[in-house]
Amino acid sequence: MSTTATLEYNGEKYEFPVTVGTENEIAIDIKTLRAQSGIITLDPGYKNTGSCESAITYLDGEKGILRYRGYTIEELAEKADFLEVAYLLIFGELPTRDQLDKFHEDIKDQSVVDEDMKKILDSFPKSAHPMGVLASLTSALIAFNPSSVNVSSEEEMYRAIVKLMAKFPVLVAWTLRKKEGMPLDYGDDALGYVENIAKMMFKKPNKEYRKNDVVINALDKLLILHADHEQNCSTSTVRIVGSSHAGLFASISAGISALWGPLHGGANQAVIEMLEGIKADGGDTKKYMAKAKDKNDPFRLMGFGHRVYKNFDPRARIIKKAADEVLGDLGVTDPVLGIAKGLEKEALEDQYFVDRKLYPNVDFYSGIIYRALGIPTEMFTVMFALGRLPGWIAQWREMRLRNEPIGRPRQVYVGENKRTFIDIDKR
Ligand code: SDX
Repeated sequence: MSTTATLEYNGEKYEFPVTVGTENEIAIDIKTLRAQSGIITLDPGYKNTGSCESAITYLDGEKGILRYRGYTIEELAEKADFLEVAYLLIFGELPTRDQLDKFHEDIKDQSVVDEDMKKILDSFPKSAHPMGVLASLTSALIAFNPSSVNVSSEEEMYRAIVKLMAKFPVLVAWTLRKKEGMPLDYGDDALGYVENIAKMMFKKPNKEYRKNDVVINALDKLLILHADHEQNCSTSTVRIVGSSHAGLFASISAGISALWGPLHGGANQAVIEMLEGIKADGGDTKKYMAKAKDKNDPFRLMGFGHRVYKNFDPRARIIKKAADEVLGDLGVTDPVLGIAKGLEKEALEDQYFVDRKLYPNVDFYSGIIYRALGIPTEMFTVMFALGRLPGWIAQWREMRLRNEPIGRPRQVYVGENKRTFIDIDKR
């Protein structure tokens, strides 16, 4: 295999080193391209452009492979719990029992959120979208934790990381409770990490807290499945904001805003709204398949397609199976599950989708489980953010520890040539 690549242009030849990844992914290292040739590359959406070398997550879109630090998503979803996976993503190894216990204790020590944060939450109308509330509250955390802003040592980063792992679930629960008009709870340090999240979110003020293993296990698995996904839109946002040394909380707040988009994490909400719309329209899936294929119709089959996966999203397989199990265990029937399965079957047999390698992605079935757990549709992307938090943190930490340069892409200017200013009275 060649260790260099040559670009030939205008009779000149330029040579570049080739980088080969762990799984033999090949990249042409063009760090010296402009210095050598004055030329840049152009790749809207970065469909062919690697932004970094990373040791955290590996995807093979053609084979439908997803691994966190080398462990398959199937094994982790089956055998690990979310806090264990968070530790693995952030620090690179599965923790020993003592390491995990210490990580959890350090998190518990930071799980109280300044009461004045409630005043910021109260300033939002109940109609505010929870993703906007969560992004704002996450950014507001900076004001109450100034020592977590300009961090550069591993120790300072660790302190900022455990603060965020502790306070973010409280903000998620408060965002839900605010929407529901329920009192804001701090949870209970005696509980497991995900069990505590479930209690903060679901405990009714007038009822004793009763542990529901089906809910906790479903939540834990969904959070694991969403925990990281290499250089997706929101993670790339976290990295580029973090590359200016804006600090962890600000970087995560930016990532939340990027995730909100319906083409990205907002798709899980859009899927349920789409399925509800099809149900309300008599369940005519063929009509919506036609709309999805009509270039003149902006409608897309939400929860389908992926920038990287050109095969089944392995997470979608696991979530689809879990949806049947969780609804069965909870004794819930949801007509939109049948509509989703019907749409999936039709799409997988339709030439338009087959030609474009469009398969169900992580967002296609997740909302059906969230709904069965009693989570409102507008909170689905907040749940995605809760799961993705350790992945964002891991990617931010890797970028900072590697002293990556500030992210600043080039452009090709296609605007006006130089021209002279004209006074307004002469225009
Ligand atoms: C997530 O990147 C990640 O890793 C993201 C994520 C993560 O864990 O972080 O996996 C989470 O964001 C999953 C994706 C959730 N989004 C949706 O479900 C929204 C619906 N999907 C699409 O909008 C789309 O598939 C994207 C945005 C996911 C991917 O878009 P791309 O890679 O830019 O592909 P494209 O828009 O260029 O589409 C290629 C072709 C086009 O048709 P042609 O112009 O070639 O004729 O496929 C068509 C598109 O029109 N197409 C769809 C479609 N998705 C793509 N047509 C109908 N319905 C769709 N859903």
